[in-house]
Amino acid sequence: MSAYDEIAEWYDVWLGGAALEDDAVFAAVESFMGNVAGLRVCDLACGQGRLARHLADRRAVVTGVDISSKLLDIARGYEAREPRNIEYRLGDARTLDGFAAAEFDGVVCFMALMDIAELEPTVRSVHRVLRAGGWFIFAVLHPCFHTSRSDELSVAGGLVRTIGSYFVEGHWRSDTRTGPPGKVGAYHRTLSTYINMFLANGFRLDGVAEPRLTGRQAELRPIWTEVPAALVVRCSKAVEV
Ligand SMILES: C[S@@+](CC[C@H](N)C(=O)[O-])C[C@H]1O[C@@H](n2cnc3c(N)ncnc32)[C@H](O)[C@@H]1O
Repeated sequence: MSAYDEIAEWYDVWLGGAALEDDAVFAAVESFMGNVAGLRVCDLACGQGRLARHLADRRAVVTGVDISSKLLDIARGYEAREPRNIEYRLGDARTLDGFAAAEFDGVVCFMALMDIAELEPTVRSVHRVLRAGGWFIFAVLHPCFHTSRSDELSVAGGLVRTIGSYFVEGHWRSDTRTGPPGKVGAYHRTLSTYINMFLANGFRLDGVAEPRLTGRQAELRPIWTEVPAALVVRCSKAVEV
């Protein structure tokens, strides 16, 4: 039983009808992905499959993997109602057992790497299933602005984000947040831990984005127009020469 099994239905409702097209963080991910038509793409920690569906609509050949069987049931329900040829597989990002080496042209992990308990085995398994030159793109809660002691404070001039315990890595859970960090928590890692982990495990860093929220998202959470809510990274499997 994974942590998300217990909140799977809540999570699906919580995401609501919010379209990825209106999501500034997803826009950064999409611009890093480029045209996915015909590519074999793994949606790692796919949850209820919103990203997998989006990619399939853009003609990628999509496999969604998640450790939560309940979220996969919901994803398969969407697939049954509106088939897109998405394959959903129960699996652990830390091993990706059952997946062949070099099986994918790209792996994307949207707002989930901070939910996976261990980073290094995950980075290694992603490296294994990618073909040489293939990309890995992830978006996470920005590690500089989400920690066990992060909050918002109203000061002269507007809201500011307050941060403590940045150097304390590991699981944290919020008593006040209404989203996943309040329900199941998340794993904090510093920015340098993320970047160096990829560089140390056969990846090349291609680009980093820190999207500023706009539109409805900004109206709901104005703090994220001041500092970035999420960090988006693109790296690729280095080609050996
Ligand atoms: C915040 S949800 C994001 C889901 C989806 N990417 C989305 O954007 O809606 C985090 C996901 O990470 C998954 N997860 C956590 N640990 C995992 C692991 N070791 N292997 C695969 N998935 C995992 C959870 O089950 C959950 O679906």
